[in-house]
Amino acid sequence: MKWNSSLAIGIEAIDNQHKQIFEHLLALENSVAKRDPWHIVRFLLSQLADYMKFHLAVEEAMLEIVRYPQHADHCQAHAKIMDQIAELEKQLQKTGSESELVNFFEDWFIRHVLSDDRQYANYVKKEFPALSGQVGQQTGG
Ligand SMILES: [Fe+2]
Ligand SMILES: [Fe+2]
Repeated sequence: MKWNSSLAIGIEAIDNQHKQIFEHLLALENSVAKRDPWHIVRFLLSQLADYMKFHLAVEEAMLEIVRYPQHADHCQAHAKIMDQIAELEKQLQKTGSESELVNFFEDWFIRHVLSDDRQYANYVKKEFPALSGQVGQQTGG
């Protein structure tokens, strides 16, 4: 599926990263649907996993800086999904059911954004309103 505004959490830099993740997911989904050769699917999957790792690290750093009270729980949810992805990837080598992995990833991601990420966004917007606009971006002028 594609990113849409119902998935926005209201922190621009994070929303942009979430959009990127959906782009990666979509590319992977299309590749699986087209029955691309396994090395292409593998490549797209590793791109998604790499970007996901980057995104989760950015979030975790931000939540630490703002002293988010549920920081540890949030990090744990991130660690768990990366473990599950690694496990599914291993299974994939035996079963070859890529679509299962894509669906699992997408389901988790949507649920996580709508619940856990939205929850920290409420905290950040309330306690650090300046962060919600342009995290990590220069606004010149
Ligand atoms: Fe996120
Ligand atoms: Fe998160």
